[in-house]
Amino acid sequence: MAATIIDGNQVAADIRSELKEKVTKLKAEKGLTPGLGVILVGENPASISYVTGKAKACEEIGIHEETIRMPDTTSETELLQIVEKLNNDPKFHGILVQLPLPKQIDEKKVLLAIRPEKDVDCFHPYNVGKMLIGEPDYLPCTPAGVQQLLVRSGNDPSGKHVVICGRSNIVGKPLMAMLMQKAKGANATVTVVHTGTKDMTYYLRQADIVIAAVGAPQVIKADMVKDGVVVIDVGVNRVPDATKKSGFRLVGDVDFDAIKEKASAITPVPGGVGPMTITMLMMNTVTAAEKKG
Ligand code: GUN
Repeated sequence: MAATIIDGNQVAADIRSELKEKVTKLKAEKGLTPGLGVILVGENPASISYVTGKAKACEEIGIHEETIRMPDTTSETELLQIVEKLNNDPKFHGILVQLPLPKQIDEKKVLLAIRPEKDVDCFHPYNVGKMLIGEPDYLPCTPAGVQQLLVRSGNDPSGKHVVICGRSNIVGKPLMAMLMQKAKGANATVTVVHTGTKDMTYYLRQADIVIAAVGAPQVIKADMVKDGVVVIDVGVNRVPDATKKSGFRLVGDVDFDAIKEKASAITPVPGGVGPMTITMLMMNTVTAAEKKG
């Protein structure tokens, strides 16, 4: 079977156009412009690129966005003061502190300082806890993007066996909590495999849906999954490629070329989960503004 390629760019564009309409309505009916405050500490090129992408998406949708750039030498106290300033500024419905942070700053302390109602990344333990008990105010962006890709491509996880590869706090753990809920777009049987799993293939071969969030290039091979599987690839890995000007290309955590011959649906890298993450951040920012309106 040749798989349907799930087009993350298209799904993201559809959601962004829905959000744009919502924002236009919020402005017209309530005089409310959703606002996002982004804090970027240092000059990490990947972080700069993420933050630029976020600013562009905000502009496209009509969200007010300000990026506060701070030097690499910023102290924890200085950063906490800026977070507090944004916490108290009604212009900003959402606050995002771009990770990673320089080593002199305790990341956990900073994430705890963001007011939960402005925590559009859904990294604050309060919001993680609410999600776990099935009463989410926000959903974390990458897991929410994965869920939207499944539902909007006609692969609702309800009643399916989902195997998640990876147990990070940003992807694997929250996805497990989200997809097992008795809720729309969820209600799945979820298995999480990780570095402590003795025989990952044993579980993968039983999966109706595989979600790969391992962080290693093309480690999931075609003989590890069953015919007709649905594969969502969260991985973004650089591998050397002499034919590219940059000297590298991006690949996911699964062997895309081989698995697409066996799967019923699969996301590409790039162009799968990637465009969804920022889109879900936009959705959370609009939700944050709606709660105030
Ligand atoms: N760094 C890489 N991805 C993310 C993200 O989704 N949110 C934040 N705050 N930092 C990141």
